[in-house]
Amino acid sequence: MDQTTPPAREILVHSLLAFWADAGVDCLYQDEATDRIAAGLSPPPRRVEAVAAPLRAIPGPPSADFGALATAKALAEQAQDLTALAAAIAGFEGCSLRFDGAATRAVFARGPANAPVMIIGEAPGADEDARGEPFVGRAGQLLDRMLAAAGLTDRVFITNTVFWRPPGNRTPTPAEQAVCAPFVARAIALVQPKMLLLVGGAAAKAMLQRDEGILAMHGRWFEWRSEDKGMELPAMPTLHPAFLLRQPAAKKKAWSDLVSLVQRLDRPDRPH
Ligand code: URA
Repeated sequence: MDQTTPPAREILVHSLLAFWADAGVDCLYQDEATDRIAAGLSPPPRRVEAVAAPLRAIPGPPSADFGALATAKALAEQAQDLTALAAAIAGFEGCSLRFDGAATRAVFARGPANAPVMIIGEAPGADEDARGEPFVGRAGQLLDRMLAAAGLTDRVFITNTVFWRPPGNRTPTPAEQAVCAPFVARAIALVQPKMLLLVGGAAAKAMLQRDEGILAMHGRWFEWRSEDKGMELPAMPTLHPAFLLRQPAAKKKAWSDLVSLVQRLDRPDRPH
């Protein structure tokens, strides 16, 4: 018998949907698979609208709270260095995740303040919440191994699109990401990296304001622009290490993304 309680079941369902969304499946045709080749049928019409909504994060407010966003912008602009920025984030009360999800604290960043690459992930998980640093759980350990193999250890500054753990590790909503975005942009302005590596679909979509699946976006170069268009940086989406832990066969895709990134970093004059 299914002993799962309703809230836990909801979290499981959202986690499964997030898994499929990470894999680039952003719509469903029907509940049961049909062998259309055997049946000699043509493909069914695409019904995106009927099923796209459940693949998004659990609904939050439809758009960012403008008061909180203005506060975030003001606090971020005032921060003159990364220590001040970390303190500003820790004191910020405008993101509901601070109260709904995180058990302990804000998780800002790790890595050298002058790193040439900034990695932006989705959101802290339980291990990150406990330790106060991004990407320190199993997914983070895999990321670190890949970075070491690519010669990128100590050349990356790592942060996330939101700074508090979402409840049940769900995907952060666009509104939660939007209210944290001024802090992310300020971190980019302070670190002045040469390029961004956007880890996972939720980070890529939020940073690039695109609605493509990560399997379509990974390994391609996009241009990230700050809201005031004052800063522009090349940005590459890649697969999330949590996805790679579930789908080890996809590791070669992520590895080839890292190789392209290192090539551009070390040989910027070559065409990409
Ligand atoms: N996944 C993320 O996207 N970020 C973290 O910090 C940890 C896991």
